Amino acid sequence: MTAKPLVEMRNISIAFGGIRAVDHASLDLFPGEVVGLLGHNGAGKSTLIKILSGAYRRDSGDIYITGEKAEINNPRDAKKYGIETIYQTLALADNVDAAANLFLGRELKTRWGTLDDVSMEAEARKVMGRLNPRFRRFKEPVIKLSGGQRQSVAIARAIYFNARILIMDEPTAALGPQETAQVGELVKQLKAEGIGIFLISHDIHDVFDLADRVCVMKNGQVVGTARTSDVTQDEVLGMIILGKCPPGAVPGPGAMPMAA
Ligand SMILES: Nc1ncnc2c1ncn2[C@@H]1O[C@H](COP(=O)(O)OP(=O)(O)OP(=O)(O)O)[C@@H](O)[C@H]1O
Ligand SMILES: [Mg+2]
Repeated sequence: MTAKPLVEMRNISIAFGGIRAVDHASLDLFPGEVVGLLGHNGAGKSTLIKILSGAYRRDSGDIYITGEKAEINNPRDAKKYGIETIYQTLALADNVDAAANLFLGRELKTRWGTLDDVSMEAEARKVMGRLNPRFRRFKEPVIKLSGGQRQSVAIARAIYFNARILIMDEPTAALGPQETAQVGELVKQLKAEGIGIFLISHDIHDVFDLADRVCVMKNGQVVGTARTSDVTQDEVLGMIILGKCPPGAVPGPGAMPMAA
């Protein structure tokens, strides 16, 4: 992969009170790449991606998007750079259908200023056809959909507005095995379209299935980053638990110092 990185985060830090939630973290993401972000509770994973999505303002560090220094200080800025986030809660409006969710707050209007339901449904069918061709339940409120189908509606909403960078925070935490597999298919589809994805997960198996690289955080610091083909799952567990960086990984500031 020799393309320019979509995202480069360099030396990102943020503290809450006395706690260094993210401490000089650096991480990049290439087009069509899935990078899994792993680490224990409180390691700083969500905080780091919330800085990228503009939910938090970093204390220091720089973000580059396709090689250019980016000013990301709020969620609106992040969207301008094509960064979309899907939180675990999905934030769907339960009582309306897929199309209404797709255009929530960005509704299409007719030239008379009324809601253009026909166009919105047509667009919804187009984008869902790309993501999840078996999806048929366009007329139902999303509360009636399965977890996997709800996830595809949330992803459709994120990518419809030209996301190039997708952040998924624990996308499968509330899903059963079959729906987890469905989300995996969605991720592969997005990857094939050149979208870069940060995937936060507690499930190391999911991450190994889907990610090209993994980045492990501990106590706000990056322990290391590795191609999934260069490390074993046991080695990655060692990174998560002990902060021990194996030979196949590039160590970060949080790597345990080598025994003398
Ligand atoms: N808004 C906040 N105010 C104060 N402290 C915060 C805030 N957000 C996060 N923290 C702290 O920052 C640290 C990193 O938390 P973060 O949520 O990023 O961890 P995480 O790796 O996403 O964990 P989890 O796996 O539980 O989601 C924790 O010590 C957390 O308590
Ligand atoms: Mg988190």
